Amino acid sequence: MKASLLIALLAFVASSAHAGAGAAAQKAEVCAACHGADFNTPVSEDIPRLAGQYPDYLARALADYKSGARKNALMNGQAEGLSAQDIEELAAYISRFPGSLKVLPLHRFIR
Ligand code: HEC
Repeated sequence: MKASLLIALLAFVASSAHAGAGAAAQKAEVCAACHGADFNTPVSEDIPRLAGQYPDYLARALADYKSGARKNALMNGQAEGLSAQDIEELAAYISRFPGSLKVLPLHRFIR
């Protein structure tokens, strides 16, 4: 009895952790249509690479597109429906893709 309860609990924890990552991946699908499935090979040269970018840079850019502080017809439309949580999740998810951006390693700033 106890063992089966434990197994059920573990299965639940595993599936909810997976659902978190899955939700971000699902939200990012629409973004991949332009920015590339690996976020490092955008479909055209006027679309920026996002892979390997700092998550706070990505989150700031998305928040600025949403508020209109940064103007771009395509991205203002993309960001307008995103919640603050969507922005955090997308920024965290996308920044983890390995990319060819030449950003300085974070340890240069955080000591
Ligand atoms: C229809 C094509 C298209 C789609 C879909 C799209 N983007 Fe973009 N994205 C662009 C273009 C074009 C730019 C450059 C805009 C500019 O000059 O500010 C851009 C810029 C960005 C930037 C700023 C990058 C930088 O280096 O400053 C971020 C972050 C971003 N997009 C994230 C996303 C996310 C997250 C999604 C999905 C919710 C998404 N994009 C969907 C075309 C697209």
